[in-house]
Amino acid sequence: MKEKTLHIGIFGMGTVGTGVVEFLMRKKGKVGNFHFSIEKVVVKNPKKKRDIFLPAGVLSFNPRDILNNPKIDTVIEVIGGYHPAGELVLESLEKGKNVITANKAILAASGDKIFQKALENNCYLGVRASNIAAYRLIESLINSPSQIEKITGIFNGTCNYILTGMEKKNKDLSHLLKEAQTMGYAEANPAEDINGQDTAHKLIVLLGITLGHFPSTQSIYVEGITNITLQDVIYAKELGYRIKLLAIAQREENSLEARVHPALIPDDRWLARLEGVENGLEIRDEAGLEIGMQAPGAGKYPTATAIIEDLICVAQGKKLLLPAQNSPLNLKSIGEVETKYYLKFYAIDKAGVLARIANILGEHDISIESVIQKGKEDKKGNIVPIIMLTHYSQEKNIQKALEEIKKLPVIKKDPLLIRVEEGVF
Ligand SMILES: NC(=O)c1ccc[n+]([C@@H]2O[C@H](COP(=O)([O-])OP(=O)(O)OC[C@H]3O[C@@H](n4cnc5c(N)ncnc54)[C@H](OP(=O)(O)O)[C@@H]3O)[C@@H](O)[C@H]2O)c1
Repeated sequence: MKEKTLHIGIFGMGTVGTGVVEFLMRKKGKVGNFHFSIEKVVVKNPKKKRDIFLPAGVLSFNPRDILNNPKIDTVIEVIGGYHPAGELVLESLEKGKNVITANKAILAASGDKIFQKALENNCYLGVRASNIAAYRLIESLINSPSQIEKITGIFNGTCNYILTGMEKKNKDLSHLLKEAQTMGYAEANPAEDINGQDTAHKLIVLLGITLGHFPSTQSIYVEGITNITLQDVIYAKELGYRIKLLAIAQREENSLEARVHPALIPDDRWLARLEGVENGLEIRDEAGLEIGMQAPGAGKYPTATAIIEDLICVAQGKKLLLPAQNSPLNLKSIGEVETKYYLKFYAIDKAGVLARIANILGEHDISIESVIQKGKEDKKGNIVPIIMLTHYSQEKNIQKALEEIKKLPVIKKDPLLIRVEEGVF
């Protein structure tokens, strides 16, 4: 049997692109029964010193060298960001080239359009590298005979590195973010890591490939980790929890709850125990079957491996994976979410304050599971933190109660709310 050769064009040779090129060069372009020939690599900066020496004529600064090259049948997009990556992906598909992309931002923004373009042009579209924590589960997510009911994931290595570092190294967010950047874990724009957008993009991609349509970024509740302090991590630990940035999607008949926010998880659950840049994912189907997977959330080689897996799918002649489009589900607002809450108030240290807070919570049907009152955090002042853990309550009630509590003259800062997720395994 004649061995198949794919002719590849790569947009971008930064962290991930270098990983792909190194992998293919190390394997001398042969993986299993398939040959992969790198025809062109297009990058941006002609002055940049490269760690890799490509054969003469392969490196280019002109995207047309890939787009207009009829020999190139498969394109790998590892530039990142929206422009020109989005346009390059769409034009490659229009020209009938298979596309593999690691770019969750463009998939989250225009997943429906990109998949539609791939479908119209009979091209393969590989998205494994856009969420490497989940990539080995991607086919089972798409092909699951039983409906997926709940996805819970830790999808951002930088945030998990920061939250674990707070607990283990007693350092604050800004210090740990710098560490994560130095180690190459953070995105080019680290704001997208810590404001939760990167996690939201990965959740949208998973929802897109599971449901057959991509919910808009605006329709999902997204909150990052910037309000989480070292003290909260310590208080959570005292209460038997760890704080993680979670992506949660839960389906109930025709409605969908999709949210990204920091959450307290009981510290004996495996998701709580994922440390550093490690990511993880739990899936529960309609029959109650639960599976979980732990994986690196970022990095040159893990991401390159996910891309190579897609390249092999192309070589095997696999077709585009996407379930049939179902009618869109109604997205629940965050106010409709029902869970437990960690609340932190900064109040003047005097008798009756706790009772006043508890009274307002009670008026909104919120009952308190436990309270810890701490000594003064600032040496001079008379302000003390009060931490409360509530029983299950509806978020809109909590929000109304917090609005009232923050107007009390004894309350000296805006209260902090962190959701508590007990239902992880
Ligand atoms: N890094 C990870 O661990 C990781 C993990 C999973 C997914 N991803 C995703 O993978 C993608 C790439 O990430 P990365 O970390 O490899 O990025 P990166 O290190 O910043 O590399 C980006 C590459 O794109 C090139 N580039 C930028 N603008 C260009 C343009 N207009 N035309 C042609 N080339 C252009 C750059 O060229 P120069 O070399 O000339 O500057 C560079 O080679 C992103 O979508 C990211 O979200 C990354």
